[in-house]
Amino acid sequence: MKNLLSIEELTGDHMKQLLALGHRLKAERGRHTVQPLAGQTWALIFSKSSTRTRVSFEVGVSELGGRPMFLSTRDTQLGRGEPVRDTARVLGRMVHGAIIRTYEQSNVQEFAKFSGIPTINALTDQEHPCQILADLLTLEELYGVGAWKNMKIAFLGDTDNNMGRSWMWAAKRLGFTLALGGPQQALPSAELLARLDYPDIICTTDPVEAVSGATVVNTDTWISMGQEAEKGTKEKAFFPYQVNRELLEHAAAGHSVFHCLPAYRGYEITDEVLEKHANAIFTEAENRLHAQKAVLYTLAQS
Ligand code: CP
Ligand code: NVA
Repeated sequence: MKNLLSIEELTGDHMKQLLALGHRLKAERGRHTVQPLAGQTWALIFSKSSTRTRVSFEVGVSELGGRPMFLSTRDTQLGRGEPVRDTARVLGRMVHGAIIRTYEQSNVQEFAKFSGIPTINALTDQEHPCQILADLLTLEELYGVGAWKNMKIAFLGDTDNNMGRSWMWAAKRLGFTLALGGPQQALPSAELLARLDYPDIICTTDPVEAVSGATVVNTDTWISMGQEAEKGTKEKAFFPYQVNRELLEHAAAGHSVFHCLPAYRGYEITDEVLEKHANAIFTEAENRLHAQKAVLYTLAQS
């Protein structure tokens, strides 16, 4: 594995290997003897806000012996229009790896190609691969390794956003059933479904159908970064898909609620549900560190 640019490009076996390593690194935290990033500098190039991703990568790179260098796009020449490919060719001669949060998926692809250094997608409009790995790690901690196999997992709300798409590709790669519940305009396009070519993705505008029998119920903000202008027009259509106590009555016994955070209480999730499921939700956040250390570790070895 040279880069982590998307779950679409990852194999199921790679995902399983990363999860197994993530569990191990979590168990061994503070007792690592191997420092695969010793002597290396990894750049974090961020065009969007972040709490979890930035902190977990800065801590993760440090714990593996490397030095993280945070670069906000605003403070680099990228913010003044220097092309991604030129920036990539410069950084590729100076740093050992790059972790990029941006808008276009093509930017991370281009960076990886022109820099020649390991590149990690830390969220694009298209996908959020690091988050889904942390979510699957959490699911395995709660229900057992590989437990996703026999489970229905639901994703409610803006199902065609970066998190929804990451879940779709994970379902295909690992072979689980994913139910997407949202208004018609927030369900995946026919083109994406054709590309996925996977029968166990259920798309429905009925929130009860999506959640019925689900063991893990996911949601995410209805307004992703970069879509702020759509707030007024979008919200009304999404309220039937709010994850609340009444809707969860249809989920499987022993279900969990997942949210990648940040959460907007009273919109995609109620305060009551978030607090009831806070242990799973904040474990997802913590597991960003362990899952990403597994990614860094793997990329450093290849
Ligand atoms: N979930 C997530 O990526 O959080 P941040 O935007 O805070 O990094
Ligand atoms: N879909 C959200 C995820 C935030 C971590 C966004 O892109 O803003």
